[in-house]
Amino acid sequence: MRALFVGCGAMAAAWAEAVHKNDLLVGRVKIVALVDANLAAAQAFATAHGLTDAQIFTDIDDALANVETDMVFDVTPPEVRANIVRKSLKAGRHVLSEKPMAANMDEARELAILAQESRRLFTVTQNRRYKPGVRRIGAFLDSGVLGDITGIHADFFIGARFGGFRDQMDHVLLLDMAIHHFDAARFMSGQDAARVFCAETNPQGSWYAHGASAFATFEMSGGSFFTYRGSWCAEGERTSWDAAWRITGTKGNLIWDGEDKLDAYIADGDETFLRDFKRVDVPELSSDYQTQDHASVLAAFLDAIASGDRAETDSVDNLHSMAMVFGAIQSAQTGKQINITQDF
Ligand SMILES: NC(=O)c1ccc[n+]([C@@H]2O[C@H](COP(=O)([O-])OP(=O)(O)OC[C@H]3O[C@@H](n4cnc5c(N)ncnc54)[C@H](O)[C@@H]3O)[C@@H](O)[C@H]2O)c1
Repeated sequence: MRALFVGCGAMAAAWAEAVHKNDLLVGRVKIVALVDANLAAAQAFATAHGLTDAQIFTDIDDALANVETDMVFDVTPPEVRANIVRKSLKAGRHVLSEKPMAANMDEARELAILAQESRRLFTVTQNRRYKPGVRRIGAFLDSGVLGDITGIHADFFIGARFGGFRDQMDHVLLLDMAIHHFDAARFMSGQDAARVFCAETNPQGSWYAHGASAFATFEMSGGSFFTYRGSWCAEGERTSWDAAWRITGTKGNLIWDGEDKLDAYIADGDETFLRDFKRVDVPELSSDYQTQDHASVLAAFLDAIASGDRAETDSVDNLHSMAMVFGAIQSAQTGKQINITQDF
């Protein structure tokens, strides 16, 4: 499969590394062309990744018109995404883009529909659901050991100084980071969001222009609640990039630090004032095909092209994660609870 890379910045380097070195992908993708608005960035990228044959462009139109490719990998900032995805789909290419899938809900819907009409795939890189912890928890909750899921609670506190587009972006935490956690909550619980109330703030001392912190409560489709507390300008001890989670069910709970510490417990013995509980195993997965982060997303995308099915993180599915983000933003702006299923 021949790929055109659009956007040759920090994240594109991780994609190229996966394409060239990860066992799931080696030999499956040839990067034949690069586009970056900054020519020097594209040239440096070609050198760094040994892409001596790749054609280099500064404009997506030129690249689509002059190089035959099967797919476009869009790794640009969110505000230019719609233009690139739209043009690529119209030119008959399958598209795998970074998250978020668009800068707003109207664009997201338009692109998902365009992909269907074009009979091309538009898949979104929700790589954090392709990590061992999230996958194991999804399978464990699905097994019913904790009973019905009643609560999903996530904390994300990291003081990250990226520089670049994020510093100027509106709703930076919700749009650029929380989308991962919201998508993971959907995946692990198997539930979509029905309603949200959210407060968004740019705390004193924040080095971002807007919305570095948010606190949201989602009512999920299955009746459980997902609470989220997040900050991207939190100094001091950090949580994992995958957040720290506590999930409650009718029979017990699960606590995950977002890294390797994953423990589950179920109630045991008589219903005394503080009932005893016992630890239960959260089984390891039998395969690592779906736990290799970006490489697993890319593999799922290639598999979907080959099979003609939609990938798990297809744009149509991703509309549900986007709706959580934009429902939270709308709630923060209006001070009201937003009905996600009706308003989106
Ligand atoms: N999934 C993840 O874990 C993860 C992690 C980091 C970033 N991202 C996402 O990846 C995307 C890119 O982030 P980044 O950190 O690589 O940004 P970056 O600023 O390092 O790189 C973006 C590149 O896109 C180029 N660009 C900008 N406008 C363009 C246009 N119109 N046409 C062609 N090129 C253009 C820039 O010149 C730059 O080289 C964002 O959507 C971000 O949210 C995802």
